[in-house]
Amino acid sequence: MSTRSTLAKVKNDIYQPYLARIVKVLPQIQDHLLFQLKFEDPRMASNFTHRPGQFVELSVIGSGEAPVSISSSPTRPGIVELCVRKTGRVTNALFRLPLNALVGVRGPYGNGFPIDKLEDNNLLIIAGGLGMAPLRSLLWYALDNRTKFKDIILMLGAKTPGEILFKYELLKLIDRPDMKCLLTVDKDEEGIWKAHFGVVTKLFDYVELDPATTYAALCGPPIMYKFVLKELLKRNFSKDRILMSLERKMKCGVGKCGHCSIGYKYTCIDGPIFTYWDAINLPEMVE
Ligand SMILES: Cc1cc2nc3c(=O)[nH]c(=O)nc-3n(C[C@H](O)[C@H](O)[C@H](O)COP(=O)(O)OP(=O)(O)OC[C@H]3O[C@@H](n4cnc5c(N)ncnc54)[C@H](O)[C@@H]3O)c2cc1C
Ligand code: FES
Repeated sequence: MSTRSTLAKVKNDIYQPYLARIVKVLPQIQDHLLFQLKFEDPRMASNFTHRPGQFVELSVIGSGEAPVSISSSPTRPGIVELCVRKTGRVTNALFRLPLNALVGVRGPYGNGFPIDKLEDNNLLIIAGGLGMAPLRSLLWYALDNRTKFKDIILMLGAKTPGEILFKYELLKLIDRPDMKCLLTVDKDEEGIWKAHFGVVTKLFDYVELDPATTYAALCGPPIMYKFVLKELLKRNFSKDRILMSLERKMKCGVGKCGHCSIGYKYTCIDGPIFTYWDAINLPEMVE
């Protein structure tokens, strides 16, 4: 094979999606669905694995591609779960697809959480809104490898109980003796919410944290980062023990197009997981 055709093959391969079938769709909150996908190719179905925090490029035939975090844990192989919010062209087309339709998946991409470093430490997961999508993968990875982690704490904030992603799954975790699952809402118009009220930072009142042996993993809206970071720094967390999922607009997902660059970093390959230390050293990132 000539060098030219070899290069063409390599170039084609990195953008080549694999076909996956939508085997189940689980409604979450309004305009959010959890898609369970199974690769058509049995080898892909059994060999596909990822690190929590990584994403795939999901394509809807005829509509285009969008990056989506993997919500399932690599400890539960065979099915890839993606929690998607209906926002624009690709996601609207995805929501119109019937069960058993085929989509394209390439990846996994991005760095993901540094699992090796997190193990043997306490793990504090803090989520807001769609932020639970990538953090769910990390949460179940840690729970399925329970002996590899010290304390596991989840703090999640939402406006109302009806806006909590994976609500029923998370409510069951409240009674789990080997972790602390703290859920809070701003208000509950139905008056039946039995967990916490108030902003997510209020949940810090219910935990004792050792900053020397704890990693914090955050994903949520910008306003959440602002206040949660303040709390963590107040508790003497070092900036390299705070891990944040920072999403930028992406196109190729593999460091080729430059769409996701921030200064000298490409968030699709250097991220989307950054330490707070990395983030403050990037222009136009978190302050
Ligand atoms: C690493 C990564 C992981 C992601 N994980 C998920 C996920 O798990 N679930 C999910 O639903 N979405 C996720 N997204 C966001 C998703 O890729 C975008 O919403 C995407 O634009 C949807 O494609 P679309 O064609 O439907 O919408 P578009 O027609 O492209 O745009 C819809 C609107 O969203 C805005 N937008 C596009 N990308 C982003 C972004 N990254 N952040 C904020 N606004 C954006 C556009 O400007 C536009 O206003 C992720 C994005 C990244 C980069
Ligand atoms: S999305 Fe193309 S370089 Fe990152």
